[in-house]
Amino acid sequence: MSSLTVRAAAKINLRLGVGPVREDGYHPLITVYQAVGVYDDVTVTASPTWDVAVEPVGAVDVSAVPLDETNIAVRAGRLLVTHHGIDAAASIWVAKGIPVAGGMAGGSADAAATLVALDRLWELHTPDDELLSLAAQLGSDVPFALLGGTALGTGRGELVEPVPDAGGWWWVAVPSATGLSTAAVYQEHDRLGLGDRQLVPQGLLDALAAGSVEELGATLANDLERPALSLRPDLAAPHDAGLAAGAVAMLLSGSGPTWLALCRDHEHAHWVREGLVDAGFADAVAAPGPVAGAHVVEYA
Ligand code: C5P
Repeated sequence: MSSLTVRAAAKINLRLGVGPVREDGYHPLITVYQAVGVYDDVTVTASPTWDVAVEPVGAVDVSAVPLDETNIAVRAGRLLVTHHGIDAAASIWVAKGIPVAGGMAGGSADAAATLVALDRLWELHTPDDELLSLAAQLGSDVPFALLGGTALGTGRGELVEPVPDAGGWWWVAVPSATGLSTAAVYQEHDRLGLGDRQLVPQGLLDALAAGSVEELGATLANDLERPALSLRPDLAAPHDAGLAAGAVAMLLSGSGPTWLALCRDHEHAHWVREGLVDAGFADAVAAPGPVAGAHVVEYA
């Protein structure tokens, strides 16, 4: 085998409870992740040197993605090589459908996909616990990108365990033309003196298990919504447009600026998307959840 492709999904946080900043600069989280059907496909090919290329899928603006050694996919590849003490490199091709700096963990998806792709390409048989630990070193959301589905996240978000989800949810993601820095939103959270919401969200977990869209809509909550809106007051417009288009509820995705409109079913999602497109949000896209974690889609 000389080349293979791994697909990794975007994530959203159905609940993002943020505690006071830790000594290491990270914030303790209690979060519920869900993988949704917006994807990056990462193709790896054995090569004498590391290189990375990024191709946009649809309207995604990839101009801010670094194409050097700082790219998180290259960092993931190098970490795997160091972990196994082997001498190898690869050419990495990212087909990017996940908005950049959108709060949907696109970089984390690329890191997770690269770990899985190179593990298979080089037949390293890395045990799951080791892959999860390498993932955590690359970023707080990377372990969840390996896992997919719906999961409770604790620690700084890197400790993940699956939770029951009756599934079949539909969302409309509303990306923003300009990204937001995750670190800046957390800093704004601290500056605003926001605080300590460290309870396991039992109502939300019950809604997921029961498959009730009304209960889910009533229990979605993201502590980073206030700081993100404080930095970007213009984000009120897509929020209001989503509700006007008939969304059950609007939820900021992670640290933003992408919004998620919760919909009743597939048909409703198309209807809400059309309302958002008519309101000027042309890049709105319908996506199901939960979907799988990083997985091989093609061998070449
Ligand atoms: O872990 P990751 O590299 O994705 O985090 C990006 C930035 O987001 C961190 O440097 C930190 O500023 C912030 N962050 C945080 N608390 C977390 C996760 C991320 O403060 N639990």
